[in-house]
Amino acid sequence: MLDMAKVIGERIYLRLLEPEDTDRCARWINDPEVNYGLISEQLHFNRVREREWIDGLYRDDTSITFGICLKADGRHIGNIGLNLIDRVSRTAHFGILIGEKDEWGKGYATEATKLVVEYAFNVQNLQRVELVVFEFNERAHACYKKAGFVEEGRLRRKRYKRGKYYDEILMAILRDE
Ligand SMILES: CC(C)(COP(=O)(O)OP(=O)(O)OC[C@H]1O[C@@H](n2cnc3c(N)ncnc32)[C@H](O)[C@@H]1OP(=O)(O)O)[C@@H](O)C(=O)NCCC(=O)NCCS
Repeated sequence: MLDMAKVIGERIYLRLLEPEDTDRCARWINDPEVNYGLISEQLHFNRVREREWIDGLYRDDTSITFGICLKADGRHIGNIGLNLIDRVSRTAHFGILIGEKDEWGKGYATEATKLVVEYAFNVQNLQRVELVVFEFNERAHACYKKAGFVEEGRLRRKRYKRGKYYDEILMAILRDE
């Protein structure tokens, strides 16, 4: 039976975020190493702001955010989701972070990305999922390629990060792919 609050994978499952997740999510978003690959780097999230973010997540159907949890012990290691869902063109933007850095490089992001892409096409009935990745974020780039995203273009020197400008790479996956 389809459980709208959970998506089950092989080693991970995705669940909705709850207020109790606030402190953990705030710790991740304020970690400079985690934040470096994200668009939100210049923003600061104390617990109040992070709680407001969680409270606002499920108010409409233009976005869907899940926590990524390990099936082995239920540990919540990151967040993933679709934003700017366009119900007419049936498209959405994709985003992910694995906040627990000791879990990087174990394939969890790739598995979670594949699950959300499948969810986007089969549950939300979208036909295109797109994302932006900074040129230096090789780990994320590798993960997206493995999940089936293809490069569509490059916005040159689009993003300022810690004293340097970087290109943004646009990637997308279509339903038939
Ligand atoms: C990007 C991120 C989601 C990847 O998570 P992850 O669980 O480590 O990803 P995976 O293990 O599924 O895949 C990473 C791939 O990068 C490769 N990789 C690992 N370390 C790397 C490095 N230092 N440089 C380049 N590639 C690397 C891995 O080998 C792996 O590919 P492989 O399975 O073919 O070997 C995670 O590092 C993260 O949350 N970073 C901070 C937030 C962020 O940048 N989000 C993405 C915004 S676009």
